[in-house]
Amino acid sequence: MRHYSIAAIPADGIGPEVISAGITVLHALERQDVELKFEIETFDWGSEYYKKNGVMMPEKGLQTLKNFDAIYFGAVGAPDVPDHITLWGLRLPICQGFDQYANVRPTKILPGITPPLRHCGPGDLDWVIVRENSEGEYSGNGGRAHRGLPEEVGTEVAIFTRVGVTRIMRYAFRMAQTRPRKQLTVVTKSNAQRHGMVMWDEIAAEVAQEFPDVKWDKMLVDAMTHRMTLHPQSLDTIVATNLHADILSDLAGALAGSLGIAPTANIDPERRFPSMFEPIHGSAFDIAGKGIANPVASFWTAVQMLEHLGERNAAALVMASIEHVCSKGILTPDIGGTATTADVTNAVVAFIESTIKRAELA
Ligand code: NAI
Ligand code: MG
Repeated sequence: MRHYSIAAIPADGIGPEVISAGITVLHALERQDVELKFEIETFDWGSEYYKKNGVMMPEKGLQTLKNFDAIYFGAVGAPDVPDHITLWGLRLPICQGFDQYANVRPTKILPGITPPLRHCGPGDLDWVIVRENSEGEYSGNGGRAHRGLPEEVGTEVAIFTRVGVTRIMRYAFRMAQTRPRKQLTVVTKSNAQRHGMVMWDEIAAEVAQEFPDVKWDKMLVDAMTHRMTLHPQSLDTIVATNLHADILSDLAGALAGSLGIAPTANIDPERRFPSMFEPIHGSAFDIAGKGIANPVASFWTAVQMLEHLGERNAAALVMASIEHVCSKGILTPDIGGTATTADVTNAVVAFIESTIKRAELA
């Protein structure tokens, strides 16, 4: 038997809807492969927990999570709790506490989805964005002084270290190496930001020496938005800072059709700690409770989780199921369909089960 312990943290808004859909799919995989077993424990941490307990997760939360093989995360955010509290109270402490320094965001146009760009269909946009996930502008460095006075100051200090940049650059080059085109674009803003960003450029050139088989180029982040929109075919693997890649990956999600399909993985490549898998979207309280949240992002991040756990066949099967269901037009309203979360989930499960039947017949 191959056993995996998964900590599910559905959290807020549509998080519980899409994570429960994802868990249904994981259980379908167990039926498809009797050697595969997921032990899933669900935690009630998030904004409701915060309203009762004054914290987003218990003080020993990280210690509890440390023993799991992976974390399957929904989304945080509630209309009546400030966003910096929900983010810094749950998601960022996990990413930072477990040194999940590589944030991996695959994007492609799925069959059946009409993307916003004319002349851009499946195959024209197939990217993996690697986001530095531990430093930059989100390291928490900075402060406020003279609060409320006219001379009040607020600073956000972007932190870049040689260790941090080198390790993400190696990760990105390795990622590029695993993809057919073996092509990496390094994004910075080294014209205007002449310290940390110039160091990024220098380290990229150094690390590139270790990967002679990877073609690489550099882009400034502003010009990158242009290239992503006008020449999506010219890109493959992309590496950028925490802030730049945060913004570029929302653009990537939109260009591929919807935020509701875009997944992300927060990886500790050294596997000292569990890695965390989540949809890119937030808690979407405008549609929470309506049963129409698109579960595809949470299925796709489950694909990333299965790959990380070494379950390549199961990962490929879930990805094939997603593509099949989208190509059949079983789509939620955010991507132009009328299906519910349950319709999409049932269709994915039915596809997985049909492969069991096909295997039995063979
Ligand atoms: P959002 O991603 O929650 O929603 C943006 C828009 O996309 C909304 O119109 C929503 O209905 C739609 N959408 C998102 N996911 C969808 C899905 N699976 N299916 C169908 N439609 C979907 O971003 P928004 O509205 O800016 O933020 C809402 C809350 O989520 C805020 O509190 C924010 O801080 C939080 N947030 C949390 C994130 C996380 O936990 N990783 C990431 C982004 C936002
Ligand atoms: Mg974002």
